[in-house]
Amino acid sequence: MTNNNRPHPRPAHPRRNVAIVGTGSYLPERILSNADLEKMVDTTDEWILSRTGISQRRIAADNEFTSDMAAAAARIAIKNAGIAPDDIDLVILATSTPDTIFPSTACRIQHAIGATGAASFDLQAACSGFLYGMIIAEQFIASHMHETVLVIGAEKLSSIVNWEDRNTCVLFGDGAGAVIMQAAPEGKHGILASDMGADGAQTDILHMPAGGCRMPVTADVLAQKQNTIHMSGKEVYRYAVGAMNASAERSLQLSGLTTDQLQWVIPHQANLRIINSVRERLGVEEGRVILNLNRYGNTSAACIPIALHENCQSGKIKPGDHILMVAFGGGLTWASIVLEW
Ligand code: UT7
Repeated sequence: MTNNNRPHPRPAHPRRNVAIVGTGSYLPERILSNADLEKMVDTTDEWILSRTGISQRRIAADNEFTSDMAAAAARIAIKNAGIAPDDIDLVILATSTPDTIFPSTACRIQHAIGATGAASFDLQAACSGFLYGMIIAEQFIASHMHETVLVIGAEKLSSIVNWEDRNTCVLFGDGAGAVIMQAAPEGKHGILASDMGADGAQTDILHMPAGGCRMPVTADVLAQKQNTIHMSGKEVYRYAVGAMNASAERSLQLSGLTTDQLQWVIPHQANLRIINSVRERLGVEEGRVILNLNRYGNTSAACIPIALHENCQSGKIKPGDHILMVAFGGGLTWASIVLEW
């Protein structure tokens, strides 16, 4: 018996500030190095490292799914937030690699972690999905509809990579990151500003053609590997730099902060050269950008929450720090958030 239908009173309270109160992450054990990839496709460690900044990535086990990684990250976030699973009102899972197209993977996670009172849904905004999810969660909490929202970015990208395509297979990895969001404690600002957008004219430069109703999976489709990631790398690259930079500037302007007031920038971890271009345009020094793509590659919606959790745990991110998070992804989509930790 769940209490999904608990009433949601909507008192005429003013909007409230919203903050992250707990983080978690999960990375599968298996490491796939650039040297391993040299044995699989015509590539070199030197090419991958110099063009992308990636040395290795994690690969989930055959029987380990997006929901498993997401639930593992969520359990850590729940513990760190000091809440019970039953306190969660809403589970939002950002992913491009759901366990199944339906029902939602968020429902599987809700069951796995025992969040019996939570409404649950999947969110598809590719690599921008986690920030889209945080912005949605903020609205529910700020408007007093919900008290506690779990937002997760989790991906088993290894399941949709064409392992014979050197243009894409060197880039991606698996993993999950999660946050618990609630009203900000007294005197804290939490999220200061955000921005999100999309350009649907660019759907075909980064996509998985098959698997939906446009191209159901058939033997031919499988033979042509249409059920894997297809990408025009150069076009995505060009677009990403402009979109991330513009979104970051919009969020910064709305927040009233300037880049020199930021302690940390957590960008989507797609390519070190993209990150450096955005960093230079924004005028942020190298040491203030949080990176993990060298170890994990591009884990799409999971990149930012994994980086956030690791750097909170290590003590690098401290209370009061101002953080800019910015992402872009298939769609194309982009999003950014400026917050006070
Ligand atoms: O979350 C969003 C996901 N996607 C992205 O962010 C991708 C954005 N784009 C990129 O990161 C870059 O465009 C790539 C890393 C994908 C490619 O880097 P690039 O500098 O744009 O290389 P390129 O596509 O222009 O390829 C240069 C050469 C080509 O050979 P030719 O045609 O010049 O002879 C490629 O075939 O490098 C070749 N190449 C490789 N060589 C060795 C492509 N992939 C590989 C590889 N190993 N893995």
